[in-house]
Amino acid sequence: MTTVALKDVIKVFRDGTVAVDTINLEVNDGEFMVLLGPSGCGKSTVLRMIAGLEEPTSGAVMLDGEWANELPPRERRIAMVFQDFALYPHMSVNDNIAFPLKLAGVEPTPRGERVGDVASALGIGDVLARRPSQLSGGQRQRVAMGRAIVRRPGLFLMDEPLSNLDSGLRAELRAEISGLTRELGVTTVYVTHDQAEALTMADRVAIMRKGVLQDVGTPTQVYGRPATLYVAAFLGSPRMNLLEASVYVHLDRYVTLTLGEQALYLPWNDIRSRAVAHYHGERIVVGMRAEALTPVAPDTSGDVLRGRIRYLEHHGHESLAFLDIGASAIVVDEVGGPIDGDTPLGQRGLRRFGQMMQRFTGRVAVEQGEHASIGGTNTSVLNDPGRHHRRPAELAVRLAPYPAVSTGHPLSVKVRMDALHFFDDRGDRIDVGWR
Ligand SMILES: Nc1ncnc2c1ncn2[C@@H]1O[C@H](COP(=O)(O)OP(=O)(O)O)[C@@H](O)[C@H]1O
Ligand SMILES: [Mg+2]
Repeated sequence: MTTVALKDVIKVFRDGTVAVDTINLEVNDGEFMVLLGPSGCGKSTVLRMIAGLEEPTSGAVMLDGEWANELPPRERRIAMVFQDFALYPHMSVNDNIAFPLKLAGVEPTPRGERVGDVASALGIGDVLARRPSQLSGGQRQRVAMGRAIVRRPGLFLMDEPLSNLDSGLRAELRAEISGLTRELGVTTVYVTHDQAEALTMADRVAIMRKGVLQDVGTPTQVYGRPATLYVAAFLGSPRMNLLEASVYVHLDRYVTLTLGEQALYLPWNDIRSRAVAHYHGERIVVGMRAEALTPVAPDTSGDVLRGRIRYLEHHGHESLAFLDIGASAIVVDEVGGPIDGDTPLGQRGLRRFGQMMQRFTGRVAVEQGEHASIGGTNTSVLNDPGRHHRRPAELAVRLAPYPAVSTGHPLSVKVRMDALHFFDDRGDRIDVGWR
């Protein structure tokens, strides 16, 4: 029903804050696009420019292919749902949902029908007579959604609509929202800081950092082939293991990736070894998700890393072991937040990162207070000791629910070499030219 295109959109607020820095993004008709990023990265500002509540400083906001920078919000056929949605407390659910139609001058009979349809689609058909105060949090959020949908918008804009709900309800509403918008065929731009929410709901995810778009793609693409170190670190639970490696090329034989006192070898006939070989004598970041690591017997040879279990986390359906392998990990700031992606850290919250790590891992982050800076063009993650954030690697490995090992035990893991990710010292993916 509606397409959105942002062309070189920049938003600088009056106080000089660059909230959005040259964003290019297209949202297709009927698509569910999720804008993902930590607090303060500019997600709401993007959404507000699409809604017409803010004007871009430069660049173009196009709706259905037409220049829309100055188009007033009410002429955009847009509905918005916010985190802090406000229902009219003195009106019934029915009247709350019907209100936008009443304003638009829709006659009572069709109005009643449309409210009924929307309410039953949202599973709140039986509470139409109640006041908001008589509803649960989930029901109230459904009413807010109903009020937005009832106008049959061409474009649905949602700004962290589930953030205030408890996790069970959030998971339930996630499925409902994405199901409903698809059923209605409404183009949707959905803002969240929760990577799990983004990956489960989106047709495509656009990941932002400090006003800059980092990567856009289907959940499979951005998870499986992240464009930057930042995206790699942001997506997935447990987080991707990001290890500092030194590259050494043995011509025509193999490329050695030295991780502390251990090494992995990329055979020369592996096409990726050519791309990585450009970094001979330098340091890069090697990313490996927990699913690329399989516990093996200690005498196994080949692509194996050996370590000692620093601590174990029991998650019911699985356990996670965190191995000390004597290598350095790269910590990407702003990714922040506990493993389930709940509370993001704002820019000003960065200083707390080390303390948070300490709280979650029970140990002190090395070089606390120093932060990686990989967003800019000329900053280096690895080679600028004043700006990076390095700590002893604790390799996350998946184990069975009640493993026979415990803290302090040695553990060897086989590395799926084809599942490794490589990033240069600016945090860009070392593109190995294959998918
Ligand atoms: N009206 C404003 N004036 C000045 N700065 C603003 C204004 N609104 C937002 N900002 C700043 O712009 C940046 C992006 O904000 P926002 O888009 O709300 O981020 P997000 O929604 O990702 O948390 C933040 O640094 C925020 O403090
Ligand atoms: Mg916001």
